[in-house]
Amino acid sequence: MPTIDFRAEADRLRELLIARRRDLHRHPELAFEERRTAGIVADTLMQLGLEVQTGVGKTGVIGLLEGDLDGPTVLVRADMDALPVLEENDVEYASTMPGTMHACGHDGHTAIALGVAQVLSQYRDRMAGRVKFVFQPAEEVVAGAKAMIADGALENPRPDVCLGLHLWNGMPLGSLGVADGPVMAGSSAFTLKISGKGGHAAAPHSTVDPVVCAAQIISGFQTIVSRNVNPLDGAVVSVTWLQAGTAFNVIPQEVEMRGTIRTFELAVRDRVEQRMREISTGIASAMGCTCELQVNHHVLPVINHPEVGERLRPVFERYVGAEGLNLNERTMGSEDVGLFMSDIPGMYFFLGAALADRDVYYGHHHPRFDFDEEALPLGVTLLAAAVAEYVLPEQ
Ligand code: NI
Repeated sequence: MPTIDFRAEADRLRELLIARRRDLHRHPELAFEERRTAGIVADTLMQLGLEVQTGVGKTGVIGLLEGDLDGPTVLVRADMDALPVLEENDVEYASTMPGTMHACGHDGHTAIALGVAQVLSQYRDRMAGRVKFVFQPAEEVVAGAKAMIADGALENPRPDVCLGLHLWNGMPLGSLGVADGPVMAGSSAFTLKISGKGGHAAAPHSTVDPVVCAAQIISGFQTIVSRNVNPLDGAVVSVTWLQAGTAFNVIPQEVEMRGTIRTFELAVRDRVEQRMREISTGIASAMGCTCELQVNHHVLPVINHPEVGERLRPVFERYVGAEGLNLNERTMGSEDVGLFMSDIPGMYFFLGAALADRDVYYGHHHPRFDFDEEALPLGVTLLAAAVAEYVLPEQ
């Protein structure tokens, strides 16, 4: 059996991948509104002969590529949604939807996963196992994975391994982030309500000022990462939203603050939450206020399984060389792909896609975000080769 050259296979799709990505880029759709995108995905998968399920988690699509021989089930996950960002790029494929933009590269993820389906569908007769392509809505509001799983995305068949990638324009083309363990942080949102006693701003002694109390608590929170978390573990506590008061001469009754916690480890997350409770309650009580903290743990960390990494790194190395493998790339950004991978081993890798000709780097979610389209055929190559490692043993 001749070896499949996935690079050559992907290169044959180069123009199609770029055209498809540009079409999706022109027509971005927000979370749970990905109807046009889902339609294109479903049609393409059906034309390739996959068994297609639509409306999974509202606008999600699943395509099942069944091999002729039995074997494991590999889940390939791609996200489809855009962001509420007004595009500032002056390119012919710029968004035609004012205020909505593919500013994170999910147009590329969708094009790549469709390309992988196209490449692998040619090898059905020698495929031992099956590939479950999961096109997920609403990643940006971290709700799509949960909705798809609630609709049965991880059952019938249950995957043995989960794979996916994120275009990463902070790394050059040809560079892959393939670390083991946590690679993206878990994320929690918190709300803290501080209650005091309002009154005249000129008579602070007759009030219990929740604004001063809030200031102390915010300062106190800054000591959690610096004093309570092991410096070798990553953690973020950011207060991002603050609301208080109605007039310059009125001390308000209440202050509400919100923010986010990011950690790689659940034990660290729990330690941060515990310290937030102790600090806020302690300071509030010392200052005569009361407070109420609510924490919503809405995204799990993305954790790459060491066995999957060990198996796939040599596969990737064939295409990008040992120098292309970056074992340290991690981010405090979050992704709900971690939900698919929470009890199924998997690997989510970063695919370098920096535009070499741009002198200014515009990160993900920026109105001028863009990526090197040469990452599209490379993404198909790597993802197809990774899936083949599990289901095409005689490639
Ligand atoms: Ni993204």
